[in-house]
Amino acid sequence: MPLSPNVLDDLPYTVEPMSVADIDEVMLIDRQAFSTPWSHNAYHYEIERNDAAHYMVLRPRSLDAARRIETGWERVRRWLGAPANHDHAPILGYGGLWLMYDEAHISTIAMRPDWRGRGLGELLLVGLLLKSMALNAQVVTLEVRVGNTRAQQLYRKYEFEIVGRRRKYYTDNGEDALLMTTPSLHDEGYQEHLVELGESLRERLLGEGQPAEQRA
Ligand SMILES: CC(C)(COP(=O)(O)OP(=O)(O)OC[C@H]1O[C@@H](n2cnc3c(N)ncnc32)[C@H](O)[C@@H]1OP(=O)(O)O)[C@@H](O)C(=O)NCCC(=O)NCCS
Repeated sequence: MPLSPNVLDDLPYTVEPMSVADIDEVMLIDRQAFSTPWSHNAYHYEIERNDAAHYMVLRPRSLDAARRIETGWERVRRWLGAPANHDHAPILGYGGLWLMYDEAHISTIAMRPDWRGRGLGELLLVGLLLKSMALNAQVVTLEVRVGNTRAQQLYRKYEFEIVGRRRKYYTDNGEDALLMTTPSLHDEGYQEHLVELGESLRERLLGEGQPAEQRA
């Protein structure tokens, strides 16, 4: 049975298509995550003009959920009477892909630094894999810096394998890129593994609102 598109339902987070109104917030995360961030125009082009591009944003599902999981500093600000700095749940991460024939190529993925390490980068990746399947892609590919072992670990968890190396691919420091790819999205064994991974991610994210003693 393939990974269900409903695997993300009922979680305290959503992964939804990015809109032009999201660009400024996304750019803040982009600047913190990458040494060569994209311009407003670049995002605008991707969302409005590039038919092959599909960008997603991850947010808490509701403003209430956003309050329950707000950071300590945000809670102090609110306690001091500061107005909420958003009228919608804040964007915690984003990612995007280009569909090139039957290949979905992840062009970017990043989480807000203070929201990393909680399974949400993984949730974004699952959102991009689901999108790739919905677009009928055969495989998902991406490039990653040789030195970015954290991201590589995430991709390896989802069975991406190194299939090539692009020498001096990154212009800022001349670092090499590793080219990674999933098995065929139609492979039964791979789909079974995705279902298992999706289930354990769901449990992790659904459990995070529970008191610590109830999590085990
Ligand atoms: C890469 C990135 C999106 C991962 O998001 P994240 O929310 O930190 O990752 P998660 O908490 O969802 O972790 C998922 C998996 O990634 C790997 N991982 C995450 N943090 C890790 C760390 N510090 N060390 C090693 N592996 C790590 C693990 O395999 C982890 O699975 P586990 O929790 O079962 O161990 C995030 O670190 C980020 O935004 N980095 C900056 C931008 C970037 O490098 N993007 C990738 C460009 S190719």
